[in-house]
Amino acid sequence: MKVYLDNASTTSVSKEVLEVMMPFFKEEFGNPSSLHKAGITSKKAVNNSRSKIAELLNCKRSEVFFTSCGTESTNWAIKGIAANSRTKSDIITTRIEHHATLNTCQYLESRGYTLLYVDVDNQGFVDLDHLRSLVSGNTLIVSIFMANNEIGTIQNIEEISEICDEANTFLHIDAVQAACHTSLDLTKMNVDLLSISGHKFHGPKGIGLLYIKEGTKLAPLLHGGQQEQKQRAGTENVAYIVGMTRALEVGLANLEDYVHRVNTYSKMFLKRLDEAEIDYILNGPEIGEKRLPGNLNLSFKGIDGTVLEYLLNRKGIYVSTGSACDSQSIEPSHVLTEIRVPEDYINATIRFSIGNDTTFEELNYVIDNLIDIIMKEK
Ligand SMILES: Cc1ncc(COP(=O)(O)O)c(C=O)c1O
Repeated sequence: MKVYLDNASTTSVSKEVLEVMMPFFKEEFGNPSSLHKAGITSKKAVNNSRSKIAELLNCKRSEVFFTSCGTESTNWAIKGIAANSRTKSDIITTRIEHHATLNTCQYLESRGYTLLYVDVDNQGFVDLDHLRSLVSGNTLIVSIFMANNEIGTIQNIEEISEICDEANTFLHIDAVQAACHTSLDLTKMNVDLLSISGHKFHGPKGIGLLYIKEGTKLAPLLHGGQQEQKQRAGTENVAYIVGMTRALEVGLANLEDYVHRVNTYSKMFLKRLDEAEIDYILNGPEIGEKRLPGNLNLSFKGIDGTVLEYLLNRKGIYVSTGSACDSQSIEPSHVLTEIRVPEDYINATIRFSIGNDTTFEELNYVIDNLIDIIMKEK
């Protein structure tokens, strides 16, 4: 049996998505910038996608900009604001962001900006008082994830946005893990910039979007043609834009059912570990509305995480470890280190990310094997 429990890394392209993408590879392959009929057909597909996304996310169509991925959206948001500012120089983020944010901020730090890190608690939630104390008239931008890719923490964006609003600073939200996993209403959220990536919700890899609130001025990242209101050059990836839009539509239509189903699975997973008296810690918030559905980041006591991953892999079970390899060693990830997972647990951390396609039978197979491996390795 093969069980894919790494849906936070990427998801499969769903049948509905593939279906709407296919015509744009062969029959409708025109360049949206061309003035002939083939071009107009492609242009219409891009425009319709933009309108649909605006409707789904509750924003204006002129605020939706297509990009190549979540990493590009995040780079554009932060560097684009930085490039346009002549006076402010502070950038605020957390130490537990995805590297798309961390490395962008650190790059800007190396170019003379001041990088400030807001504290998070041991579940990954931003310390709002600390954020209040950090923002000032010199703050250029605050960039914080909506949902953490490792430990599944869902931030309180409304409170963060209130603080940024009062301080009159830009707020970028990395919603790459959040889209189609928790509700996203851009009007309610009141943020300036927000990044999304198609491959996290059954769209294709290599397509993303950046929401730019009307009136927010940022410099382009890519210079060239006049696409995307002259803000993001490059021939539009029509098939992928259409695919991501359909994926968002399907994902949001099924959101309630999906959340309920995978949270039930997650609870069942932990119950079985408890019944087998497995010694583990669930990193991040408890299962519920403050945790990404399907994310189970578990640290097991006194076991080697890479061995555990290897043995699971041999059983056809695909998961992620909570470690990052550099050239010399395998280190616990920056997120696990920052939230201070106890030393005798941290080295055996596995992220199981249950997805929309995961079945009850598959999960039972994973749990049976996991318990078996841990019992033998003890
Ligand atoms: C929270 C978060 N931000 C950004 C990214 C980068 O997105 P992409 O793979 O589309 O570049 C990821 C991808 O794993 C992510 O999980």
